[in-house]
Amino acid sequence: MKVLNFGSFNLDNVYTLDHIVTGGETIQSSRLETFCGGKGLNQSVALSRAGINVWHAGIIGQDGKILLDTCKNSGINTDLIRQLPVKGGHTVIQVDKNGQNSIILYGGTNLMHTKEYINEVLKNFGKGDCLILQNEINLLDYIIDSAYEKGMFIELNPSPFNLQIRKCNLSKIHLFMMNEIEGQQFTGSNVPDEILENMRINFPNAAVVLTLGNHGAYYYDGRQKIFQGIFKVNAVDTTAAGDTFTGFFMASVINGKTPEEALRIASKAASIAVTRPGAVPSIPTITEVIEELE
Ligand code: RIB
Repeated sequence: MKVLNFGSFNLDNVYTLDHIVTGGETIQSSRLETFCGGKGLNQSVALSRAGINVWHAGIIGQDGKILLDTCKNSGINTDLIRQLPVKGGHTVIQVDKNGQNSIILYGGTNLMHTKEYINEVLKNFGKGDCLILQNEINLLDYIIDSAYEKGMFIELNPSPFNLQIRKCNLSKIHLFMMNEIEGQQFTGSNVPDEILENMRINFPNAAVVLTLGNHGAYYYDGRQKIFQGIFKVNAVDTTAAGDTFTGFFMASVINGKTPEEALRIASKAASIAVTRPGAVPSIPTITEVIEELE
């Protein structure tokens, strides 16, 4: 089985602050650092550090050499990545003294995918191969439809949740991985059991992983409902914790672990990521995760 992650690249400009700035307020930040990130790249790095041979597809901008180098240094297959001579995706991320963040996203080249490029990427994949998606790139609906036609297994992290998600034919998704906010945006409920049941009714052929921040995570596929609590740590930066969770969960399942084992490994990986600053640099390796679990 080949694993393709079709996703975003961002340069994350991370500002450390006492608290997240509110409307009309001006505050000094104590630090500015730039990290490699983007939900797509973060998840590819997590997959690779969890032991998966992953192909990443996506478009970097004129400022994207460092993002490409990060892929190469992380063991990600870069043959399908393209570069355009315009500004790439970037973010403004505020991180407060409790490690909580808020993110402004600028799409740049992440929003410049064409149907021709998507066809060119997908011709390398077929029945039974696995496609991993988030919602920071354009033409998500076309990617889902095309991959489904080919018989690929499709996992979607509907983040950030917006109108583009509603435009997609989500009955073609085999696994949703989302947090409680996305769960509420999907279903209108903020009660985990209701979110899971509602997803089951609307998407009877899909399994769901629902992460609840400090309150753990659920897996539900209509037959088994599994809960995993958190590993308590002192968070310094929660950026990419969800991406780390997704990458390690997917990698574990692809490597034959049960959903229960996969949840445990993913939770531990995310708990390590939040103790480190930045997106890509915070993602642990499977060796670190296993050592800590033992
Ligand atoms: O999920 C974290 C990521 O979201 C960051 O790396 C940032 O780029 C945003 O896309």
